[in-house]
Amino acid sequence: MACELETWFKISILSLVVNLGQLAVGEPQVPCYFIFGDSLVDNGNNNDLQTSAKVNYPPYGVDFPGGPTGRFTNGRTRVDILAELLGFEDYIPPFATARGNGILKGVNYGSGGAGIRNETGQQLGDRICLDTQLENHNVTISRIAVLLGNESLAEEHLRTCLYTVGMGSNDYINNYLRPEFYPTSRLYTPEQYAAVLTEQYSRQLRILYNYGARKVGVLGLGPIGCIPFEANGSLCVGRINDYVNVFNKKVLSLVNDLNHNLTDAHFIFIDPSRVLSVDPSSSGITILLTPCCKVSTGYGKGQCIPHSVPCSIRATSVFFDAFHPTEIVHGLVAAMLYIAMFPNNTYPIDSRTTLTQLSAP
Ligand SMILES: *[C@@H]1O[C@H](CO)[C@@H](O)[C@H](O)[C@H]1NC(C)=O
Ligand SMILES: *[C@@H]1O[C@H](CO)[C@@H](O)[C@H](O)[C@H]1NC(C)=O
Ligand SMILES: *[C@@H]1O[C@H](CO)[C@@H](O)[C@H](O)[C@H]1NC(C)=O
Ligand SMILES: *[C@@H]1O[C@H](CO)[C@@H](O)[C@H](O)[C@H]1NC(C)=O
Ligand SMILES: *[C@@H]1O[C@H](CO)[C@@H](O)[C@H](O)[C@H]1NC(C)=O
Ligand SMILES: *[C@@H]1O[C@H](CO)[C@@H](O)[C@H](O)[C@H]1NC(C)=O
Repeated sequence: MACELETWFKISILSLVVNLGQLAVGEPQVPCYFIFGDSLVDNGNNNDLQTSAKVNYPPYGVDFPGGPTGRFTNGRTRVDILAELLGFEDYIPPFATARGNGILKGVNYGSGGAGIRNETGQQLGDRICLDTQLENHNVTISRIAVLLGNESLAEEHLRTCLYTVGMGSNDYINNYLRPEFYPTSRLYTPEQYAAVLTEQYSRQLRILYNYGARKVGVLGLGPIGCIPFEANGSLCVGRINDYVNVFNKKVLSLVNDLNHNLTDAHFIFIDPSRVLSVDPSSSGITILLTPCCKVSTGYGKGQCIPHSVPCSIRATSVFFDAFHPTEIVHGLVAAMLYIAMFPNNTYPIDSRTTLTQLSAP
């Protein structure tokens, strides 16, 4: 079948652009932002873990001020850009190093290789699964209670924060699609596996709610059958994208249930496969299935070869390595997240995040 990514590149990025309004300056639009997820948001939590899923070396970070940080892309991730759009002066710090008053503005728990399921990614080495990320959040909450004076003040603070959760990619890439390491594809049909994952995800999102989260963006999966690691030459694997669609559909109905059943809950589902629905001629993104960097075939398979020279124009590629999108694609996801979560706000543009950066080659 033809590459589905091509057909996903449909809605013009201009439709994003027209939603953008005035320059917003001053206080961030939310006081705090907490991030749960995998390598799409990890900003250094894996750096000191024993794992091949860490990338604190060049060419990662080639477009990031200060170079490599552990981010799995050339520049900023979706959550960095969202933090900028929200008016935060700094990026949300990784749990591994966040200390002091800074945690009042949020913490990033994301970990490369991690999944909804506890065992996901274990063939890569250490990683911080979603259950453990939630335990780490509980540690942060105790620290916030100390900083603010008591538990009830911490709870009050946590209710005002924004949360994003994006999990599940590794439950396919580093679990279900790896029968040599994991039994799940023999135990479950794709439909059953998506149901089992969604059940666990439901418990986890309810824990987050019980910790005080009220406004939560839940990111579905992108077209995993189109990542260079899974793609069949220049073709997306439709079967894998079908798995993704089944999962995304179940998470969408989970989000509806949570909003229906939990008082004051505002869960919002975002489908990144729709985010990639960009007309390449208007976005300048022309290189679809070829990674920008030269990727390893041995240790750290699919990640950039350390110290290799990446492609010279990153903004024309969808993928930086064989798994992870470039900053420009992260920017599109961030813009969609922002618009979905704050539909009535004008779009803040500051000196660091300009639309040109999001839309031009
Ligand atoms: C993950 O699963 C293992 C084995 O079942 C268990 O020992 C461990 O406590 C679990 N970790 C978390 C965070 O649930
Ligand atoms: C969260 O941490 C507190 C200690 O600060 C502990 O009493 C509580 O059981 C923890 N909650 C969960 C759900 O692990
Ligand atoms: C927490 O601290 C605030 C401000 O000091 C106080 O008004 C409130 O009664 C305290 N709550 C509890 C449960 O101790
Ligand atoms: C890869 O593409 C070729 C050519 O279209 C096709 O014959 C083959 O079945 C595909 N392999 C997989 C695993 O989808
Ligand atoms: C949540 O609400 C849905 C209706 O949206 C209902 O069908 C479902 O049973 C409820 N689930 C729970 C656990 O309360
Ligand atoms: C956005 O504005 C519309 C119309 O004014 C209103 O009905 C809606 O509740 C607003 N949504 C949010 C999230 O504030």
